[in-house]
Amino acid sequence: MSNSPIGIFDSGIGGTSIFKEIYTLLPYENYIYLADSKNAPYGNKSEAEILQLGIKNTELLLNKNSKIIVVACNTATTNAISYLRANYDVPFIGIEPAIKPAALNTQTKAIGILATKGTLSSHLFYKTTDLYANGITVIEQVGEGIVPLIESGMLYSSEMQDLLKTYLKPMLKHNIDYLVLGCTHYPYLIPILSEMLPKHVKIIDSGLAVAKQTKAILINNDLLNHNTKPPSIKLYSNGDTEVLNTIMNHKFETYYLDF
Ligand code: DGL
Repeated sequence: MSNSPIGIFDSGIGGTSIFKEIYTLLPYENYIYLADSKNAPYGNKSEAEILQLGIKNTELLLNKNSKIIVVACNTATTNAISYLRANYDVPFIGIEPAIKPAALNTQTKAIGILATKGTLSSHLFYKTTDLYANGITVIEQVGEGIVPLIESGMLYSSEMQDLLKTYLKPMLKHNIDYLVLGCTHYPYLIPILSEMLPKHVKIIDSGLAVAKQTKAILINNDLLNHNTKPPSIKLYSNGDTEVLNTIMNHKFETYYLDF
């Protein structure tokens, strides 16, 4: 079982930002990544639709023998992970916006969060914000349009610059000192955001925390792969594999799969 792959899925190529963090920490594991680009973005879909997509991806990863599943998508985690945990017999790792560290460390008592509509409107997100962001101004911003641009290979484009400028404006007006990236596509925006934000604004995401959590759960379940031979890493997309290839710097094998 410990030789079985770590299964990871996202609505598209964004979850590769999580895969990279996990792979850096666990280089001897085997991996299967599913980019459900055909159905991206998940962010504007209903909870029921997101759940159905989560089930479809989970079942495919289980058919491919995954020993653990990383839901590398904030939208799918906040809307579907409780169901998945209750109905499938493998450990699930989810990802949620890093509200807690931002709320604990802010000096200006104002933080910004950029995420999808599906995440910001979820019950789990409300619960976390309620718990940690008491007395702090949280500027929530739906990143409408960002995921489709990234999925179509337009990360570095004037359209993206314009969207981000609009989305950052209310946050800067409130003098935020933390910007929380609540979508796994968004870490790819960090070089652009760093240029646009004042130096004192820190950008945080949950990638490293998810990687550490994945390692801890594998150890607890005696599932860590102790092999030191080169791992098998397979990235599947039901959309444009070239966009996936490019974001991965052509470093891994990518395949088209209709799922
Ligand atoms: N990457 C996903 C997330 O973390 C989903 C984005 C989308 O498909 O709308 O929320």
